[in-house]
Amino acid sequence: MTSSSTEAGGTLAIRARVLTYHAHPLSAGEGGSHRYIEDGLVIVRDGLIEAVGEAHALLPDLAVDLTVADYRPFLLTAGFIDPHLHLPQTQVIGSYGTELMEWLARYTFPEETRYGDPAVADAASRFLLHELLRNGTTTAVAFCTSHPQSVESFFTESQRMGLRMVAGKVMMDRHAPEALLDTPRRGYDESKDLIARWHGNGRLAYAISPRFAPTSSEAQLEATQALAAEYPAMHIQTHLSENAGEIAFVAELFPWSKDYTHVYERYGLVRRKALFGHCIHLSERERGALAEAGATAVFCPTSNLFLGSGLFDRDAALKAGLRTGIATDIGGGTSYSMLTTAAEGYKVLALRQQALPGHAAFYMMTAGNAEAIGYGDRIGQVAPRFEADFVVLDTHATPALRQRMERVETLEEELFVLMTMGDDRCVVSTYASGRKVHARGMGGIDLPSPAHAPTSVGGDFTGASAPEVESVQAA
Ligand code: GUN
Ligand code: ZN
Repeated sequence: MTSSSTEAGGTLAIRARVLTYHAHPLSAGEGGSHRYIEDGLVIVRDGLIEAVGEAHALLPDLAVDLTVADYRPFLLTAGFIDPHLHLPQTQVIGSYGTELMEWLARYTFPEETRYGDPAVADAASRFLLHELLRNGTTTAVAFCTSHPQSVESFFTESQRMGLRMVAGKVMMDRHAPEALLDTPRRGYDESKDLIARWHGNGRLAYAISPRFAPTSSEAQLEATQALAAEYPAMHIQTHLSENAGEIAFVAELFPWSKDYTHVYERYGLVRRKALFGHCIHLSERERGALAEAGATAVFCPTSNLFLGSGLFDRDAALKAGLRTGIATDIGGGTSYSMLTTAAEGYKVLALRQQALPGHAAFYMMTAGNAEAIGYGDRIGQVAPRFEADFVVLDTHATPALRQRMERVETLEEELFVLMTMGDDRCVVSTYASGRKVHARGMGGIDLPSPAHAPTSVGGDFTGASAPEVESVQAA
């Protein structure tokens, strides 16, 4: 492919099987939820999608000198969106044998104390972002640590790669190691400084991030309330109703509260673009309150299974009208792949006799998660005026997939097998803002790595073969 087709700000045309969602397949019906073009063309100009349609209809009008990246028979969808993960937990994944509260105390909090060191935060940010791109994820909502440096590192690296990212400094002033604690004043001031530096800077947005009720005093929650009131349209992220011990602790710490959700309601934190991780053990009252406020529940299946937290009740959320996203929750979660996350989501829901067909899962990973984080108007769809974030998927990437796909007859079946058996090996290319930021079998292309970056970061050494893309001149 010529460099002109991958530069930010240029014009780019991609030919592939194109799949995009504009409605939830479980409410709109499969047919009314998506557009699928067997031989599609996507034209990108200045980081935005200009046109999407049948290749035969669009090709004749393309400028003759424009290179087309031809990915057929691969499948192009909007880049995946991961609405809940933790920057400082890439080296916590797979920590053995505990449930949430002990896992936090034994593994997670000690690890997070390292992130006051800029070198640690920089290296982890580079690793995490490259790993997300390797898995086709182009937007994430991330908890950093209580150290402002961790947010600086994450946003600096996200900016360098041209990614749409949401992140915030965790606020926590009790029930954790001293080295992680801020104070109500410091939490407020440091968040405000970071907002001034980063919020709305390019594609970046700040999320007000009280970790969860057990680690914030009432004074800190009051300061958080003041901050949230100053920025009524800003994201808020926290955790809610994940684990029985956590819920009992919240009841002890806030004896006046009706339930866990009431604590956040009391401090003005339940509103649109407020993202509540887990939401497993909610009462009907809590679901109703979250839904009425326009807040979002984030289902984190690999984490919920790994920590033995419980089974998310997706149908109860749907019935309550509660917006729902699906996320990895790295590192309580065990995979960076949204495909694997959806596959585990299917199994969690199966244990509740609930369904997650392929189309519904791909909707959730793209347009659904975009809507869940309040970005349904700019990312998550392959449609004109949306930002040009894409993943190109090889549904036959492994021998096992090729074997299985021989029996597949419909797109729904193909998607379901892809999510059940697929992972990063299926990601051929990832684009952010019209720029190719990952290619299978090649190192971090197009990304000028700082001299001090570890050489393995961003590389893909799976042995997958080199270019699978023929570049052709437009007709
Ligand atoms: N609740 C509060 N902090 C965390 C965290 O880091 N991970 C998970 N899974 N739950 C939390
Ligand atoms: Zn979390």
